[in-house]
Amino acid sequence: MTKQMNQSPIPAQPRVVALLACGHNLMPLSWHMPVSKQPFRYAFAIREENYSHALLRQSGSCTLNFMGIEHYETIDRLGRFHGDAYDKLAISELAQRGTDEEGNLLLDAAEFIYECRLIEQNCWGDHSIFVCNVARIRLHENPTGRLALFSGKGRYMSTGEVYQAQKALL
Ligand SMILES: Cc1cc2nc3c(=O)[nH]c(=O)nc-3n(C[C@H](O)[C@H](O)[C@H](O)COP(=O)(O)O)c2cc1C
Repeated sequence: MTKQMNQSPIPAQPRVVALLACGHNLMPLSWHMPVSKQPFRYAFAIREENYSHALLRQSGSCTLNFMGIEHYETIDRLGRFHGDAYDKLAISELAQRGTDEEGNLLLDAAEFIYECRLIEQNCWGDHSIFVCNVARIRLHENPTGRLALFSGKGRYMSTGEVYQAQKALL
């Protein structure tokens, strides 16, 4: 395999983007994954310098708002500001449909939303991993089904062709 100079050592890996809302602050998040089915638990990685890191440690809860690809410009813009200096909800111009019981934003346009309650936090490098119980999942009545994926350096894509694998024949 050839190695090209001036390339990131981490290969482009398209990842679904969510807007993490802690209170009224919005942070684009692409490093996240499910870690348990029953109970449903979810983990995500946040860099310590991000304001959301401090907010989450303080409040212990957040929402993950999974957005459609039509919002990619907004997502990208929100990644350039920190919530302790800017009102990122105002910058986003996104409509909200209230908050969850803990006061975290629920975005009107989200395809689906996880309401997260923090159970553990650990630091493994330059990001902390937060593990949460998903207390509730909210679904949009009319989803587009075209989630935004981020593949680094300002590039976004969406889900396109669908392939159905055959059931394994032994
Ligand atoms: C598409 C996208 C995905 C991102 N994913 C993450 C992530 O998973 N973890 C993280 O710490 N920062 C991530 N960032 C960077 C933060 O969103 C950015 O530093 C943000 O402004 C932090 O906001 P805050 O300081 O208000 O919390 C991402 C940025 C973009 C644009």
